[in-house]
Amino acid sequence: MNIKTFEMKSKKGITIKVSNLGCAIISLWVPDKDGKPRDIVHGLDNAEDYDNAHPYFGVVCGRVANRIGYSRFMLDGVEYKVEANDGPHHLHGGVNAFDKKVWTVEEATDDKIVFSYVSPDGENGYPGKLTAYVTYKLNDDTLRIEYRAETDTKTVCNLTNHSYFNLDGHDSPTVHDHIMQICSDKITAVDENLIPTGELSDITGTPFDFRTPKSIGQDIKSTGDGYDHNYVLDNPGVAAIVSSQKSGISMTVKTNSPGIQLYTANFLDGSVVGKGVSYKKQSAFCLETQLYPDCVNKPEFPTPIVTAQKPQEFFTEFVFLVK
Ligand code: GLA
Repeated sequence: MNIKTFEMKSKKGITIKVSNLGCAIISLWVPDKDGKPRDIVHGLDNAEDYDNAHPYFGVVCGRVANRIGYSRFMLDGVEYKVEANDGPHHLHGGVNAFDKKVWTVEEATDDKIVFSYVSPDGENGYPGKLTAYVTYKLNDDTLRIEYRAETDTKTVCNLTNHSYFNLDGHDSPTVHDHIMQICSDKITAVDENLIPTGELSDITGTPFDFRTPKSIGQDIKSTGDGYDHNYVLDNPGVAAIVSSQKSGISMTVKTNSPGIQLYTANFLDGSVVGKGVSYKKQSAFCLETQLYPDCVNKPEFPTPIVTAQKPQEFFTEFVFLVK
């Protein structure tokens, strides 16, 4: 494997370390209110370690991120079966998916890295050859991620980055005190296996309602294990704002994706160790911009279909400010 790492540093003192294995964001240092850089993402010790099983720390998930119910879907009357790696369901593209591939480095400059990966026809059960491009750009206070998917044959695609953030530093035990705002009044309702029912449910007054900023911990107990839900975004623009009083760091997420998955690291149990830390339950939050879960089986959801004539493009920006 030809694994390479790259570092970019912005004028505002933000430093990011990424690798071509899974396009992983390994570290992201942001200066806190005292000007001291804190590494705010969970990660593994070495870029090579991302080849081992881990809970998608910082990687790009594809060909179709999130869940596909019962690991099957229809496209133009043909049924495609994808690997079941989450009980009977398919999660984050399957077992040896985009997060486990060594991506080609198309371009690497001081403030921009472009990775590409050609997924052959039939890989992980998906039809059609798909070329994916992921660009990381670092500018002053903003990390911008651009996703592009091109194909020669009609197929489906949904790309996201699965970074686990803790704005006090990845070695901080919990995100319960972080203040979160999500600009959405609906989530995609799910069954007990987190597969959407197709219904968009109004979250007014429920623990899922983050329109008025509140701490992540405030209502988390009443969700069971924690949040693992897709929020419906009405407009391209600001999707979420998260901040920590302790570090003074705030992060604004902007995107043109129609959805964003809030996941509060519910499945971490201390068994994964990286960068000297044993990562515990609810020690981080993920905000995965995406098309909706199981969109391949829900024609009423925004479409994951990519054709030769219609490539797919999305962007996400993480803007960091210090208060
Ligand atoms: C996503 C899913 C979660 C979980 C994590 C990875 O956030 O929604 O259920 O699978 O990825 O552990």
